Amino acid sequence: MLEGKKVNLRVMERGDLDFATECFNNINYWGEYEPLGAQKSKTERLKALDNPPQVAILCERERFIIERKDKTKIGFMALWLAQPSRMMEIGYSLIPSERGKGYGTEAVQLIVDCLFLSRDIARIQAMTD
Ligand SMILES: CC(C)(COP(=O)(O)OP(=O)(O)OC[C@H]1O[C@@H](n2cnc3c(N)ncnc32)[C@H](O)[C@@H]1OP(=O)(O)O)[C@@H](O)C(=O)NCCC(=O)NCCS
Repeated sequence: MLEGKKVNLRVMERGDLDFATECFNNINYWGEYEPLGAQKSKTERLKALDNPPQVAILCERERFIIERKDKTKIGFMALWLAQPSRMMEIGYSLIPSERGKGYGTEAVQLIVDCLFLSRDIARIQAMTD
């Protein structure tokens, strides 16, 4: 668990699937600029969590839940190894009601510090849709 002043990041687990399904199947979560995410049932998401695609294993993809300090789940942070391999990419989003309160800034600070301190990488990047 990565602990900040406003938010924590913790590895996503099976118990987070209801939250993930609710968010990822909601058009308002994706917003007007992001492509709508794949619509999947909780059962399908559970299968994917238990049997990650080969590409996810090769890319060392990890997904974290962004939580407020009171443990309320407010979003997701994903990271994966990009090519060339000393480069990581991150992607993140919050539920609409929790945007614009500084949580995204702190979540990025936490993951960037953690990645540079724990891995031999030269660069972290994020694309904006
Ligand atoms: C993008 C996102 C994660 C930022 O997290 P956040 O907690 O809302 O952002 P913060 O409150 O920490 O603000 C960070 C900065 O981004 C700016 N910002 C936030 N949302 C913005 C928006 N929609 N458009 C322009 N600027 C924005 C803030 O003004 C702030 O700027 P400042 O540091 O100069 O004051 C969050 O707004 C979100 O989930 N948005 C919808 C999904 C999305 O766009 N995800 C990225 C897809 S590539």
